[in-house]
Amino acid sequence: MSKKYIIHLVAAARPNFMKIAPLYHALVKEPWCLPLIIHTGQHYDANMSDAFFRDLNLPDPDIHLGVGSGTHAMQTAGVMIEYEKVCLEKRPDMLIVVGDVNSTMACAITAKKLCIPVSHLEAGLRSRDRTMPEEINRIVTDSISDLLLTPSPDADENLINEGISKSSIIRVGNIMIDSYEMLREKIVSRGITKEFGLSDKEFSVVTFHRPVNVDDADSLSSIVDVLQKISRRIKIVFPVHPRTRQRLIEFDLLGRLQFADGIILTEPLGYIDFMSLVVNSKIVITDSGGIQEETTYLGIPCFTIRETTERPVTITQGTNKLVSIDNVLEHVDSILNQGDIHSERPDLWDGFTAGRVVVALRDYLNNTFNN
Ligand code: UD1
Repeated sequence: MSKKYIIHLVAAARPNFMKIAPLYHALVKEPWCLPLIIHTGQHYDANMSDAFFRDLNLPDPDIHLGVGSGTHAMQTAGVMIEYEKVCLEKRPDMLIVVGDVNSTMACAITAKKLCIPVSHLEAGLRSRDRTMPEEINRIVTDSISDLLLTPSPDADENLINEGISKSSIIRVGNIMIDSYEMLREKIVSRGITKEFGLSDKEFSVVTFHRPVNVDDADSLSSIVDVLQKISRRIKIVFPVHPRTRQRLIEFDLLGRLQFADGIILTEPLGYIDFMSLVVNSKIVITDSGGIQEETTYLGIPCFTIRETTERPVTITQGTNKLVSIDNVLEHVDSILNQGDIHSERPDLWDGFTAGRVVVALRDYLNNTFNN
């Protein structure tokens, strides 16, 4: 193979960076391709973006679209307009999108309309809740992708049920686990717990950012109430997402967290700092997608304050439980009284997903361009 294929890797928002990093590091070693990082600018704060590039040893993006925040339509349209210019100037041979953020869908649509092959890494996840913007992004992206790289058998089934040909689906495992394994020594030796004046396994980690939980004053106020109650049983470290901080201020709730004895509020943390907290925590309470997977891998009890999850293996095999604001306290008590819970690591969540993706991409490109 003499041609070097140009592969665009789209990085847009915080949860994308740990998915593209292991793949970028694996592709850059391959003589047959040139991976380029396209940052759409969906997340732009230093602690939502730059800190992750640094922790994950990623170079500065090759191309920055600088799109920033806005309504869903503004953000999606902004990414499409800017990414189309990039593709028209120098056409890539393939686009890889990860996860389910607005930029994932926007870049996939743009590339596909230019007949550029699209691969979706983390394809097939479904919450079946179409009020979630991420669910729309997942369905649209999968429906037009040429190569669907899945993390678990439920994802394969979802795609097959939606009429996607089996031959386009390859189960590769969970790429985020590769990032954890790549940085495990640094994460384990980081010692951030002490900096917060905490002892290992004697605190919980909390994150909230889903619109359904934080954009409504009553719902956010109930979350604040329950966190105050939990903090009397176990200390809480709560890195606050920008959306959540804005809402806490808007609804006049921030003070109730700031002045609670057992609650430590922080700015959003970088990858190594955050994972170093999680790995040493007793319990995680969240509404994130990725954290459900990381806690399953680490065997740490995770209570997810949502009605659905697009990641069911974290419940059937892992440590995750879907709970509500009304019953989360009982679940916390049961862990504090009875100790940890049994879990298994899902198949192919092993730190070697990037290698499997490289093989899948090479075979796909060979078949597409040499036939
Ligand atoms: C986005 C993703 C979500 C993902 C989350 C992780 C979509 C639809 N949502 O949601 O799937 O779980 O990222 O964080 O793509 N903001 C800043 N600084 C930043 C980024 C955002 O201040 O660096 C502010 C914005 O001004 C905005 C708010 O945070 O008001 C929300 O940001 P946005 O990227 O629109 O959505 P997220 O809630 O982060």
